[in-house]
Amino acid sequence: MLCRLFVSALAGALMIPVAAVRAQDVPTGGGRGGGTPEQRAANTRAFLGLGPAPDKAAATRGAPGYQKACAFCHGPQGRGAEGPNLIVSDVVLGDDHGEHLTPFLKVGRPEKGMPAFKNLGDDELKDISEFLHEQVEEVANRGTYQLQNIIVGDAEKGKAYVAANCTSCHKEGSFEHIAGRFRSADQLQRGWVWPNRPADNSLAITGTVKANDGTTIKGRITQISDFRVTLVDSDGKSHVVSRGAGVDVQITDPLAPHQAMIKTLKNFDMHNVTAYLESLK
Ligand code: HEC
Ligand code: HEC
Repeated sequence: MLCRLFVSALAGALMIPVAAVRAQDVPTGGGRGGGTPEQRAANTRAFLGLGPAPDKAAATRGAPGYQKACAFCHGPQGRGAEGPNLIVSDVVLGDDHGEHLTPFLKVGRPEKGMPAFKNLGDDELKDISEFLHEQVEEVANRGTYQLQNIIVGDAEKGKAYVAANCTSCHKEGSFEHIAGRFRSADQLQRGWVWPNRPADNSLAITGTVKANDGTTIKGRITQISDFRVTLVDSDGKSHVVSRGAGVDVQITDPLAPHQAMIKTLKNFDMHNVTAYLESLK
């Protein structure tokens, strides 16, 4: 714990130097620069007091939930926006696998603008916690950078999986050259599991809100919590509606099919598909 507080204090004061700690400069105990990338990452993690390695599959599952429920306020990678940076948060750094974060997120700090997420299940909150741990890892642990480029899956099996599971919605051949659009295999994986919403809003979450006075507002949802929903209508006008009794909110998310897919995606299928897509440079 002491060590984690140290990381957090250091990261808070000097964000760049922490990110700049070079894995090979860290006394690893296992031989300088030696070992597999996994060992190097684990050594760096231990030295920085980052706690156990994030569960990558859970973090990937948690990404959409985080983007939906948290990103408006904490930024898409947890590095802060209207709400604080979570990469240097004691609440995040003091947690291993959601055991502290999950109960915290259920109560929040409503009086300080951090909502309570009572309507999210334990599993979903745990996955969101892993997503945050992965963001910390990416900022703090240079040792993992090498890991990200390692393809652990089997491309042939991935090809079969895509043929069986993706072509119901995607045209065959639509993934040609997909790997060329991403900087690393890790980003490719996140990109196909949870496609980015383009800036042109073509994949935006939209909704219809029926207020209790009978008026209906349609538009792009920019923020939603248990208490209120914010929509931008086709004229670009923003509406904030309190979610009291009699207010009905219908949400349409063009990426919902992907979310459904993530729930049944096994770890090895994910790696196999990434290996296959990576081969389509
Ligand atoms: C409406 C904006 C908003 C949303 C949405 C939101 N937060 Fe927050 N969050 C805040 C604010 C503001 C604080 C700072 C509260 C304070 O000052 O104690 C905060 C604090 C936190 C903290 C504690 C930081 C610390 O070290 O004190 C964590 C962890 C956190 N949020 C995680 C999340 C997660 C995960 C989600 C999504 C499930 C989320 N938040 C959604 C606004 C938000
Ligand atoms: C139930 C339908 C459905 C299934 C199954 C599905 N997708 Fe998608 N996918 C979508 C929709 C809808 C979009 C968003 C619209 C778009 O960009 O085409 C999307 C977007 C994407 C994107 C981002 C767009 C792009 O071309 O960069 C990728 C990559 C992707 N899917 C990969 C996959 C892979 C790989 C599988 C199988 C493992 C899969 N999808 C299975 C419906 C589906």
